[in-house]
Amino acid sequence: MNKKKSNSKKAVMIGCGFVGSASVFALMQSGLFTEIALIDADKNKAEGEAMDISHGIPFASPMRIYVGDYDDVADATIVIISAGAGQKPGETRLDLVNKNVAIFKSIIPEIAKRDFGGILLVVANPVDILTQVAIKLSGLPEERVIGSGTVLDSARLRSKLGQHLSVDSRSVHAFIVGEHGDSEVVAWSSANVSGVPLSDMCEMRGHYNHKENTKEIADAVKNSAYEIINKKHATYYGIAMSVKRICEVIMRDEKSILPVSHMIHGVYEIDDVVLSTPVIVGVDGIESDIPINLSGEEALKLKESADALKNIIDTLEL
Ligand code: 2OP
Repeated sequence: MNKKKSNSKKAVMIGCGFVGSASVFALMQSGLFTEIALIDADKNKAEGEAMDISHGIPFASPMRIYVGDYDDVADATIVIISAGAGQKPGETRLDLVNKNVAIFKSIIPEIAKRDFGGILLVVANPVDILTQVAIKLSGLPEERVIGSGTVLDSARLRSKLGQHLSVDSRSVHAFIVGEHGDSEVVAWSSANVSGVPLSDMCEMRGHYNHKENTKEIADAVKNSAYEIINKKHATYYGIAMSVKRICEVIMRDEKSILPVSHMIHGVYEIDDVVLSTPVIVGVDGIESDIPINLSGEEALKLKESADALKNIIDTLEL
């Protein structure tokens, strides 16, 4: 394990658009950091966000939120990258690959130059591809480069299942695995409600049309972002809360199990590609994979998701 070298309560947010600024707003209320440096190509935007969010500090806890530069990376514990184009209505996350890989080619070397010793958290889309690009270009140990992956998708799934079953979504344990995108897979085989297999819980709550209900819920989760983008042109609060949760697990060394984007080596017979499966996350990043139970069909779909991502990675000149 390449233990991270920085233990400061300092984060750097690269990208102050909707996702970046909403994430800083969530982090500012979390008490996790005493300083958050904002970096954006549009310095005015970074200054405006830093000022606006800082005015809430008296309602939170003492901290500094300020416009920084890449030198601020050196002693940061977590560097978050939200910089990049967002999906427009009708665009898939994968449609953003060329634009955002080009942006990463300008950002990642600046981080690598500063001998960054913390955890790099990629949020920009396509997050799995960009996380793999960040691993390649940064030279950081793989376990210290994480993508937000399907943390948000899994939260959406748990939220919908909670509504469907009229139970607290925090008691619903279910994962989306694979690409944070159209080829994502619902791991129905391991879904449960406080240990009660999901299908048993559904029947306890009077639901018997499992095939129809699971398809409806899976489609609703997969299409959430498209639906929200069609209504309000971007998503940012759900992903901001996901960023906060991931930072919480790192900063508190919680060793929680999260479906974050990470380099896969052999689990589910998948190799050398970044995608989301449940892993233990702690202060030094990815600790170990937790191979959950997948049906034959789910394992096949996960392999297809991996292949879809690999096919894109293979076209990139890094
Ligand atoms: C989301 O799923 C767009 O990836 C972003 O909300």
